[in-house]
Amino acid sequence: MALTIGVDIGGTKVAAGVVDEEGRIVEHRLRRTPAESPERVADTIGEVVGELARGRRIEAVGLGAAGFVDETRSVVRFAPNLAWREEPLQKKVADLVGLPVVVENDANAMAWGEARFGAGRGESHVVCVTVGTGIGGGIVFDGSLYRGRWGMGAELGHMQAVPGGRPCGCGNLGCWERYASGSALVAEARLIAQAEPARAARLLEIAGGSPADIEGPEVTEAAREGDPAALAAFGSMADWIGQGLSDLASILDPGCFILGGGVSRAADLWIDRVRESFAARLTGRGHRPLAEIRLAELGASAGVVGAADLARRR
Ligand code: BGC
Ligand code: NA
Ligand code: ZN
Repeated sequence: MALTIGVDIGGTKVAAGVVDEEGRIVEHRLRRTPAESPERVADTIGEVVGELARGRRIEAVGLGAAGFVDETRSVVRFAPNLAWREEPLQKKVADLVGLPVVVENDANAMAWGEARFGAGRGESHVVCVTVGTGIGGGIVFDGSLYRGRWGMGAELGHMQAVPGGRPCGCGNLGCWERYASGSALVAEARLIAQAEPARAARLLEIAGGSPADIEGPEVTEAAREGDPAALAAFGSMADWIGQGLSDLASILDPGCFILGGGVSRAADLWIDRVRESFAARLTGRGHRPLAEIRLAELGASAGVVGAADLARRR
């Protein structure tokens, strides 16, 4: 059976796997992302691919990268949350591993993995949103991955949510990902803890006393214990996600939405609120089907599986 390798490069970790034609991971590797240096990112990818390819016939390698990938699927032109600028990732990695390499946007790869082998199986119109450091988007349109004219379609995180709002890594103000991502969850929790410490008593206790030390895991833990500030932060993030999905339904009218990314591991704390806020805001509600909002099924492997399958179809 023909094998390909998929690599998912995020802000904190590089996940890689050998994947077969049915989307099954045969062998898997996980590394920390040397985020400070694009050169070392390419080296790390070269190393894991080398290890995984040893003793196997590998057809091609697909890389899912958290940034704007050009239409030739070679160059990461820009990454709002990483150091890549006009980064020739395809060439660097191809030179290191001596195999055909294609570069995809990380959320596009994940959307493709979920649409083919996960929560979107059998659906022709799927919109996938990854909730992590930023917000990633992937659109499967009539069975195909939608890339846009220049490869940069489906950058859903950078739709404007709040005019003149929070500064975003892309250079604009008020992007959706500044309100609806994991970083937004943390920012919101810190703001509440700063302004109303009594309301965030347990959250602050878990974080060691200072709002600046609150990170995602602390917010999740405190929310599970009923801390009002942590629950409010999750509520705000969920409302913003629901709002964004209703706008996306206006444009794309998908059969289902799939939510993934790191923050979806705690989805039991917020998914119902997303569904409510989506249903309450959808334009034409009551006169149209309500697209189902599903959780990613492949979890952390969706990007690896998707990138590997896209490399197979290169
Ligand atoms: C980037 C996207 C990426 C997403 C998730 C966003 O900030 O613009 O390219 O897919 O984060 O990593
Ligand atoms: Na995308
Ligand atoms: Zn932005």
